[in-house]
Amino acid sequence: MVTTLSEAAVAVLNTAAPMEKSRLTRAFAADWREGRIAELGNTLPPERPARPEKPELRLPRDMPKRGRGGSAQNRINLLHALAHIELNAIDLSWDIAVRFPHMDMPRGFIDDWVRVADDEARHFAMLETRLNEMGAAYGDLPAHDGLWQSAVTTAEDLAARLAIVPLVLEARGLDVTPETVRRLRDVGDDASADILQVIHDDEITHVAAGRHWFGHLCRREGLDPVDHWQALVKRYFRGALKRPFNIPSRLRADFGPEFYEPIAEDPGPPRIE
Ligand SMILES: [Fe+2]
Ligand SMILES: [Fe+2]
Repeated sequence: MVTTLSEAAVAVLNTAAPMEKSRLTRAFAADWREGRIAELGNTLPPERPARPEKPELRLPRDMPKRGRGGSAQNRINLLHALAHIELNAIDLSWDIAVRFPHMDMPRGFIDDWVRVADDEARHFAMLETRLNEMGAAYGDLPAHDGLWQSAVTTAEDLAARLAIVPLVLEARGLDVTPETVRRLRDVGDDASADILQVIHDDEITHVAAGRHWFGHLCRREGLDPVDHWQALVKRYFRGALKRPFNIPSRLRADFGPEFYEPIAEDPGPPRIE
């Protein structure tokens, strides 16, 4: 019997079946919103979420190349990869919501990550439904192992978790999704394009939540958010911040280029002010 939010989170994290994980998330998010679950509690989340037998998880270098053309198989590959990201995002959101009770965050912090979990559960379900329409299903193809790695490396530090998960990984989604939407529309797959557009618009609010609560922590500790974010990214993120950035979408999340431009992969084009 689930009575606290951390018990709900643990129940979701320990659920392997993807659609059941999505369904449970949506039910618990409604319970929290409507006050049927009112306490955070202090049940610790597992180190790793349960995963179904399929998809087979492979190291990034062993993943088949994903073609960029508009064939049905290429689009299935794309939607499958995105479904895998959304499934991980469900677990990441619950983990952020309940792993750091000792940080004494305001109720609004918990509310935000429960809402994000609810969004990710909806995103996963939309992609799975679309895969089914195309004669495929989540689990048919191998998937990227390692999406949970950033959760493990930042499990002890909430500021680092926010710096990496919403503000590097989810923000990267904002950069690449509009081009994918365009490509899908070009080949006439409006159904998939519409789903990706919804995801993009929702993800702006996830980056905004990350930016807001990262700023809250920095103010509390008397740290400069730009300097602190750059230091955490250098320490915890193995990889380059890739251009081009979707600055308009990032700005809608209050995430300005002063954060990421100075530490991006290579010098940008000369700026004409
Ligand atoms: Fe999502
Ligand atoms: Fe997200």
